[in-house]
Amino acid sequence: MSSATNVAESRVQGLLGKIDRASAKVGVIGLGYVGLPFAVEKGKVGFKVLGFDRNPVRVERVNRGENFIGDVDDEDLRDLVRRGRIRATADMDHLADMDAIVIAVPTPLNKNLNPDLQYVENVTREIAGRLRPGQLISLESTTYPGTTDGIMKPILEARGLKAGRDFFLAHSPERVDPGNARYTTKNTIKVVGASDPFSLQVAVAFYRKTILTVVAVSSAAAAELSKVFENTFRAVNIALVNELTLLCDRMGLSVWEVLDAAFTKPFGIMPFYPGPGVGGHCIPLDPHYLEWKAREFNFSTHFIALAGEINRHMPEFVAEKALRLLSDRGKGLKGSRILALGVAYKKDIDDPRESPAAEVIRLLLERHATVVYHDPHVARFTGNGLDLLSRPLTAEEVRGADLVLVLTDHSAVDYPMVVREAVQVLDTRNATKRVAGEKPNVVLL
Ligand SMILES: NC(=O)c1ccc[n+]([C@@H]2O[C@H](COP(=O)([O-])OP(=O)(O)OC[C@H]3O[C@@H](n4cnc5c(N)ncnc54)[C@H](O)[C@@H]3O)[C@@H](O)[C@H]2O)c1
Repeated sequence: MSSATNVAESRVQGLLGKIDRASAKVGVIGLGYVGLPFAVEKGKVGFKVLGFDRNPVRVERVNRGENFIGDVDDEDLRDLVRRGRIRATADMDHLADMDAIVIAVPTPLNKNLNPDLQYVENVTREIAGRLRPGQLISLESTTYPGTTDGIMKPILEARGLKAGRDFFLAHSPERVDPGNARYTTKNTIKVVGASDPFSLQVAVAFYRKTILTVVAVSSAAAAELSKVFENTFRAVNIALVNELTLLCDRMGLSVWEVLDAAFTKPFGIMPFYPGPGVGGHCIPLDPHYLEWKAREFNFSTHFIALAGEINRHMPEFVAEKALRLLSDRGKGLKGSRILALGVAYKKDIDDPRESPAAEVIRLLLERHATVVYHDPHVARFTGNGLDLLSRPLTAEEVRGADLVLVLTDHSAVDYPMVVREAVQVLDTRNATKRVAGEKPNVVLL
């Protein structure tokens, strides 16, 4: 055995020992929807966690034990901070003290729908400037295959330390589903990939400490592609039911009835439902990471392009259907008051990022409708040229609207009251399904 291998092996054993005893110091960069729940899980099994965020407000809130992420239990965070298990800082110099560093920073698209890796590159440079032998670096941000090995590794190795010998480098895509009470960070199977055996061994051990099932793949790129494929699968299937919705609208059939019937098949099919478009930090963005990367191989990802086209068209379809309903009643959008119910991108969460509601509302305002909204989880709705405040959902508010437009099917909304009081409801999520009785004033998407 060469001395280089011996050195690497002793580093592996050193880190494995610390992981096993939960004495490894864990750094989590990016304390958002992904990073904070992860930090809490690690803290709960005994690791000392230091969260890094460039947002001083988030840092202060964590240090006060004040939770701001829906999937984190308030008391868990308060307790871990009180016991000194979790702290946060904006000072990147502390990265040098960490044994394992997890990166959970945003991976958005730029205006041309191309990957914007500036956050990943910035934090990789911060780590590289302080990298020391024996550290594990794991990227959790969603990205195209080749980011960990092609972008991060050269930056990290620039000062002479080598991945797989001096430090360990892995990719483990986060699968958190905000608002999902059944599948959490802990019980969602996690994929881990690394391009050398020592990095894989260390990374798998690190994740096994907090996650019930860890699946290893043979490269970081395979792990990266598995995650982008998962989100592409959703985007494509949502587009398929959205396309069926457009067809059913022309045929005068209820897409909801058709889908409910189709999903009674016990095999070979999986339920997906239509809506006003796709939102959040994943489905509308991640497939385009793959689309962009595929171009490097002179390859066109037709499904991704088509799904993006159909899903992006849905807000226009909703606005047009609202106009149709109003004009059937002798009204136009101009001068009509529309109450939008729900602006978060999906049910029971407070995240309005990339929400299709923003585009629907913008289109309605552009056509001179008056639009107000209620969302029990989003007090203020900004972006896409909007800055609106949620209004209380009262019977008067509902009665005063020419059209109530359900855009997110939050459980906390009193749908029986809405159906009882509204002149007309355009329900894009079938949220009124459970309201009993005849509903002549409800039109589904
Ligand atoms: N939100 C989800 O449901 C979800 C699910 C799976 C995967 N992901 C992926 O996880 C990644 C993170 O997403 P998120 O939703 O947690 O994002 P987020 O915006 O909620 O959190 C990211 C945090 O990173 C911080 N940050 C940005 N640049 C930084 C820097 N240079 N140094 C330190 N901190 C920095 C931000 O201040 C922010 O607090 C993305 O790649 C996303 O695609 C998200």
